[in-house]
Amino acid sequence: ATHLLGIEPLAPPEITALLDVADDYAEGARAGRRHWDALRDMTQINMFFENSTRTQASFELAGQRLGADVMNMGIASSSVKKGETLVDTALTLNAMRPDILVVRHPSSGAVDLLAQKVNCSVLNAGDGRHEHPTQALLDALTIRRAKGRLHRLSIAICGDIAHSRVARSNIMLLGKMENRVRLIAPPTLMPAGAADLGVELFDDMAAGLEGVDVVMMLRLQKERMDGGFIPSEREYFHRYGLDAQKLAFARPDAIVMHPGPMNRGVEIDGTLADDINRSVIQEQVEMGVAVRMAAMDLLARNLRAARAPKGVSA
Ligand code: CP
Repeated sequence: ATHLLGIEPLAPPEITALLDVADDYAEGARAGRRHWDALRDMTQINMFFENSTRTQASFELAGQRLGADVMNMGIASSSVKKGETLVDTALTLNAMRPDILVVRHPSSGAVDLLAQKVNCSVLNAGDGRHEHPTQALLDALTIRRAKGRLHRLSIAICGDIAHSRVARSNIMLLGKMENRVRLIAPPTLMPAGAADLGVELFDDMAAGLEGVDVVMMLRLQKERMDGGFIPSEREYFHRYGLDAQKLAFARPDAIVMHPGPMNRGVEIDGTLADDINRSVIQEQVEMGVAVRMAAMDLLARNLRAARAPKGVSA
């Protein structure tokens, strides 16, 4: 493939291969290396139609470390503000001959649509409630490094599942790798059809966290609640916010994850989020750079192969 649009089409060996490459980049960076040449002579454009700190910064850094020319589209100061459509914006940039487009968009399916219109590699940096594949991959790498494996683990994903592309991509990835996934959410924040996802459903933290290896917390995504029911933050923290008391139901060596941005005192206690003995939130950010390097490296190899002249073999 020359695009990374979601976890759905990936086979387990492809996930493992990508994580292996990412692990090597992570170790290289820890050893102090900052420059590789996998994207030498390539141009990467980052188009973020929705706010981002971690994803945009790590894609930019990943491209720079691999030797690409990296350009960030300033959407706020672009002709999108004059009414230019997503497709026209993409075709305009495509005419400048980029090799890689990294796209975040508030509409589910927008990145797939865009990928059909351009002749470069497209990476989905999050589209609506649909998918956030590099987030699930960086979560998987963080879990694999912390637990020494990425199979037969019990993993709880907790909070606003209904509006979360992070949850959707993680449910698919962790299921493909043969883990037991539990979703813990108030009924109003559990997606319709959750029972068909091959996961166990809970609306109570004590029961859902019992004996799990990994606790993944999610932000209340008020921007996607469309005027629907928004729980009171105090009540929500009391029932669903992760603190030391609720974490005690999990295994004693369970790790705590959060994709960020986090709201301290709403879905997670701030002291617990900072507890380096339990929380791997900063490792998730670190692995984000490595996973995005691996994803772009592997797509660039496929892109170079697809573009190579089809000569007569020797
Ligand atoms: N986890 C994540 O996607 O964070 P950003 O919105 O800051 O990119």
